Amino acid sequence: MNTRLLKNCRLRDRAGLVDILIELGRIVRIAPGIEAPASIEVTDCGGGLVTPPFVESHIHLDSVLAAGQPRFNAGGTLFEGIQIWGERKASLTREDVQARALEALKLMAANGVLVVRTHVDVTEPRLIALDALLELREQVKGWTTLQVVAFPQDGIYSRPENDGLLEEALRRGADVVGGIPHYELTREDGVRSIHRIFDLAEQYDRLIDVHCDEVDDDQSRFLEVIVAEAIKRGGGERVSASHTTAFGSYNDSYAFKLMGFLRRTNINFIANPLINITLQGRQDTYPKRRGLTRIKELVANGVNVSLGQDCIYDPWYIFGTGSMIGVAHMTVHVAQMTGLSEIDACFAMIAENGARSLGIADYGIRVGGSADLVVLPAATPFDALRYQVIPTHVVSRGRMIARNAPAALGFDSGALPDWM
Ligand code: FE2
Repeated sequence: MNTRLLKNCRLRDRAGLVDILIELGRIVRIAPGIEAPASIEVTDCGGGLVTPPFVESHIHLDSVLAAGQPRFNAGGTLFEGIQIWGERKASLTREDVQARALEALKLMAANGVLVVRTHVDVTEPRLIALDALLELREQVKGWTTLQVVAFPQDGIYSRPENDGLLEEALRRGADVVGGIPHYELTREDGVRSIHRIFDLAEQYDRLIDVHCDEVDDDQSRFLEVIVAEAIKRGGGERVSASHTTAFGSYNDSYAFKLMGFLRRTNINFIANPLINITLQGRQDTYPKRRGLTRIKELVANGVNVSLGQDCIYDPWYIFGTGSMIGVAHMTVHVAQMTGLSEIDACFAMIAENGARSLGIADYGIRVGGSADLVVLPAATPFDALRYQVIPTHVVSRGRMIARNAPAALGFDSGALPDWM
């Protein structure tokens, strides 16, 4: 049933509690004390925070839930992960990819994540995973929004066929052009790859999301090339730079100059703190770098930052629960954004900032909007992150697609001896 009334909802931008009336999958009224029309399903949200669905800005659904195949990543580095994935992807099948990706999407939806951007490796010559995820995108669009990035994992110029495979992926319907300039064989190839990505995006009218400078090397400076192209060509709001961990290692003088250039465009940054706090700094002794882009400073400079899990139980990272609340919680810590307004900013990174990165227009709790929303057992974003809550209800296109029992600790005071 996609017609329902949610009672006693708390919204971030409004004092007091309101009711939300949903008809035929859209929000038609938001007001206190709405009388329930006859025979409509009513849900009491009990004063819980109601937010738009969470946005997963960066994940690799082709490799989710494939850890240990054929072996686990013992060294914990990005490059060992790429090597293991190189062996695993030879045995991919459409059914294999779709089953794992669908399981992950359901896990995310139960956690309130209904907008997902997935990268898919298009240097695998059969494009098995690409076709699988393009098909899955259509199969799930009734309850979740999936964007597919054509991602040349091994580099566009590392093998002669990769450039053609990337373009073929766009012809087949990938939504976004990806890249990995820091993994191209030379600096020159990396620069050339970014020019090619922008050309393809123009030619096929697609968005851009580049894995950029995901290393600790302070000389990895492809972000400046992306910024330069965005300034010269315009359309920066359609461009995302993912990871950019080297930005955390740049000297302050260079970072200051780059931040000035960033203000001349409006590209998006997508950080993946769960994975990068574990992957980066592996060659450091001490002090050991955090392996994170300059999230706090980007936010202070008005740059749009959103977040991704990147991995769920795959060759790079064997944790991951499907919860973006966990990602925002980690961001507060590793980006040192512990001020109350900064905590709210981290929450926004898994909500409206993500919608902005992905260019999702129909997003937010407003009359006329799609009835996609999440009910949290918390009064504020701070409480949601502090207790790392799971949603009590998830509504997609007006349908209740997940109900979770709130987690409750069970300490039994009656079990203690009287003298305690
Ligand atoms: Fe990634």
